[in-house]
Amino acid sequence: MLKEALSAVLDKTEIGLLSSSFDVIGDIAIIKVPNDLSSKESLIASQILRAMKNVRTVLKQSSDVQGEFRLRDLNFVGGEEKYDTIYKESGCLFKINVKEVYFSPRLSTERERIASLVKNGEHILNMFAGISTFSIIIAKTRECEVESVDKNPRAIGFARESLKLNRHLKGKVNPILADATEFARSHKETFDRVIMPLPEQAKEFLEVAFESARDKATIHYYVHVPDKEFQDENWIAGHLKSLNLTKRYEILNWKKVREVGPRYIQAVADLKVYS
Ligand SMILES: C[S@@+](CC[C@H](N)C(=O)[O-])C[C@H]1O[C@@H](n2cnc3c(N)ncnc32)[C@H](O)[C@@H]1O
Repeated sequence: MLKEALSAVLDKTEIGLLSSSFDVIGDIAIIKVPNDLSSKESLIASQILRAMKNVRTVLKQSSDVQGEFRLRDLNFVGGEEKYDTIYKESGCLFKINVKEVYFSPRLSTERERIASLVKNGEHILNMFAGISTFSIIIAKTRECEVESVDKNPRAIGFARESLKLNRHLKGKVNPILADATEFARSHKETFDRVIMPLPEQAKEFLEVAFESARDKATIHYYVHVPDKEFQDENWIAGHLKSLNLTKRYEILNWKKVREVGPRYIQAVADLKVYS
């Protein structure tokens, strides 16, 4: 339907370029417009709005995800100019301002996977929680407690608002505005599971995650890795060895999460930690 609508203004190659970087978050569509197509961006927006009745706003991403809070520049292209929306995933609702917080719908399968691994009774640390998507989806079906930490005050604000929209969680989510290292080191208890969704920098925090993990805990360690290195099955073992971690660990799983660039992927290592 969308392709059909776009074919009124773009040729096949142009449609391919556009659809590889097209996200819908709630009622907001976010597109990346290649330079060659920038003169057609208003036309593209009108076709999206015509073809997708659930979309009310079209924004253009005009920078990479950057900075400590992992934000990107977004420019209004068509429809109603707004940046707030409500997004639904795994039966949970999330309030988001797409300019003020990091969010990607492309992690939905990974969030489901992590939720499926959690057992009732776990105490979990989500070190880079954003709007608490992982945390709330886990707590929807598991009797657990999640310390959901982020440094971006707006992300923690949206996590608190989203908790009001999801009243029937089995578990408890505690949104905490803090630096992950400071929180982890000041918190006396250790955790059954530590989630580290900050792939660009996670290696700088892995030792802290290890300190926070109790015996036989699981750490989900996300990284960005060139495609070629991911193909080398020894890469992750070598990478972890180079970090000189102080506790013993076992690699339970090493898998691709999604593509993040032409030759880069986001991958995750599930680690079992021994004290
Ligand atoms: C990739 S986003 C997390 C996305 C989130 N897990 C999700 O599923 O939507 C990374 C988050 O880490 C936060 N962050 C970056 N450095 C941090 C730090 N030192 N301590 C706590 N949070 C941090 C950013 O503000 C950002 O919200």
